[in-house]
Amino acid sequence: MSAKICWKDEYGLGVECIDEQHRQLVHFIRLMQDAYAKQDIHFLQKAVQDFSSLTEKHFKTEEQYMTRYAYPELEEHVEVHMECKLKAADFLSDGLFDGDMDVFRRLLAYASTWFITHISTADARFCAFMKQQMESEPLT
Ligand SMILES: [Fe+2]
Repeated sequence: MSAKICWKDEYGLGVECIDEQHRQLVHFIRLMQDAYAKQDIHFLQKAVQDFSSLTEKHFKTEEQYMTRYAYPELEEHVEVHMECKLKAADFLSDGLFDGDMDVFRRLLAYASTWFITHISTADARFCAFMKQQMESEPLT
């Protein structure tokens, strides 16, 4: 099992609504890791669905901000989100609902690495850009 994830202040990017969603996602992955450790398959099967809608909503929020602020790396960033969604769909078709615990293990390893890496690279660039833009054109 990969290391358990937990929110660290250094993951904060200084855009409150994005940070809040990232905190929720990290917390959610942790809940699933704890459930995995207890082999609680019923919780995991339900949680995975909630987690994927939360992720979907979160990507949409980011993409709306990127559009609104004409973020120059919008296309690449959307593509990275898409890769993650496709990977998630792979896990789902891989028998997540057949009770195969190994699929959950791989999914949790993927999700925890993906989010931490994504937050500290692509999202960090985007939030730095957005903070600059918000200073000159605050949201109304
Ligand atoms: Fe992102």
